[in-house]
Amino acid sequence: MIDEPPRPDPAAGPLLETPEEMRRSGYAIVDAIVDRWARLGDDPAWQGATRDITEPMLHGPPPEEGRDLAGLLDTVLGDVMPLAGRIDHPRFLAFIPSSPTWASVLASFLINGYNIFQGTWLESSGPSQIEFTVTEWFREWMGYPEGGGGLFTSGGSAANLIAIVAAREAAGNPARGTVYASGQTHASVSRAARIAGVDPSLVRFVPTDDAFRIRPSRLLAAIRRDRAAGLEPFCLVATAGTTNTGSIDPLAELAGIARDEGLWYHIDAAYGGFAVLDPETRPLLQGMELSDSLSLDPHKWLFQPYETGCLLARDASRLEAAFRIMPSYLQDAEWGPEHVNFCDRGLQLTRTFRALRVWLSMQRYGVAAHREAVARGIALAKGAEARIRSEAELELLSPQCLGIVCFRYRGDESIPAAALDDLNARIQDEIVQSGYAMMSSTRVRDCFSLRFCVLNYRTTEEDLARVLDRIVAAGRRLGAEARPPGPAGESAPA
Ligand SMILES: Cc1ncc(COP(=O)(O)O)c(C=O)c1O
Repeated sequence: MIDEPPRPDPAAGPLLETPEEMRRSGYAIVDAIVDRWARLGDDPAWQGATRDITEPMLHGPPPEEGRDLAGLLDTVLGDVMPLAGRIDHPRFLAFIPSSPTWASVLASFLINGYNIFQGTWLESSGPSQIEFTVTEWFREWMGYPEGGGGLFTSGGSAANLIAIVAAREAAGNPARGTVYASGQTHASVSRAARIAGVDPSLVRFVPTDDAFRIRPSRLLAAIRRDRAAGLEPFCLVATAGTTNTGSIDPLAELAGIARDEGLWYHIDAAYGGFAVLDPETRPLLQGMELSDSLSLDPHKWLFQPYETGCLLARDASRLEAAFRIMPSYLQDAEWGPEHVNFCDRGLQLTRTFRALRVWLSMQRYGVAAHREAVARGIALAKGAEARIRSEAELELLSPQCLGIVCFRYRGDESIPAAALDDLNARIQDEIVQSGYAMMSSTRVRDCFSLRFCVLNYRTTEEDLARVLDRIVAAGRRLGAEARPPGPAGESAPA
């Protein structure tokens, strides 16, 4: 830690630091991050605390006078940051994890240090060129034609909102507009529809098949029924990689329906989109290129820090038609259509330079390294599925799709089916509380399901094998308690 930092030069004003102090504290933070990365796998994958613990530690009014950074960093690094999920821990398998590359972390620091305003070409020509260039890379990877383009966003939720607003505008703001998604669609889509003014009762959750994919025939029937009832269908949202199971809707078939029915076709590919980089997985995503818009989350499967999201449109001018503003106080920023003002493609005027993270990461490690890391996550999830299938006490609830696999501890027939939800919840809790791994649960086929989402480039086969070992061991022990008592009042033998 930093000892005895010099006080800022009083003549420089109270908010200015001396160059020496900036270097000293900046290097200390780099050291802290590098040390954290070096011991990441040995630290708990998750630590949290209830407010009765956090509040006495951390709550209080801001001080009138400033304090030394050294002591403040001790508090931040000792008391604040550890009480959080270590999302980039190799055994953090919950939700959709994120594991940024070092180059992208450095880019984040640079972006803030330079405080780039990425709203207009006038205020950030070099950075705007980079955002344009990186979104062009994405456009090509996703198979969109020239003229497609988009912008970086805070994440998938913002991208979904931008898409639905663009869809609504393109449809002429229908008063009784309906949106089609499925029960597996991410909840940010119905929230986006609500924000965009779509009556929540007019968001249709079309039933899915046994593999959790939208049933096209049911979709078509719903659209026709709504139209006959005087409603105005305007947007279909498919998912390329659902959050629950990783399932991929029948993208090409749905594109045909959207086209025939005159709907804006949005694909939420926030989780799965970058799997196109893996040539073996790419065919599963066929049809993405037929959409009108795509949500992508580089902070998921492109190894970038939060908040790095992206929205692409097949025709970028449709974003500008929905979002462009040009008040007189921005008139200097009008440089002509070839100079994209990214504020015209989405919600934010003041925006940070998120694209630099991806650009630096790609330049530093190359596309091949990112492709390999995506493929590796998928291969590890496949391996986990094989182990689950081979383990009599485990039951697969949803096979590996992309990097996700859902399963539960089943044990033997002596454990009543009705006890399994509770048993698996206890197994999950035990694993999470131990800090060895972080897993989140979900419900699959009406069962409480354990779930792995493998995405981190640090995760190894050994990591997953050890977590599965612990699940089986916890299941055996806790399962013994779930068995009905034997004739002598004893638990049945394991
Ligand atoms: C499929 C999908 N869409 C959208 C989102 C929301 O993205 P964000 O959390 O980046 O806003 C998620 C988040 O996990 C997701 O999995």
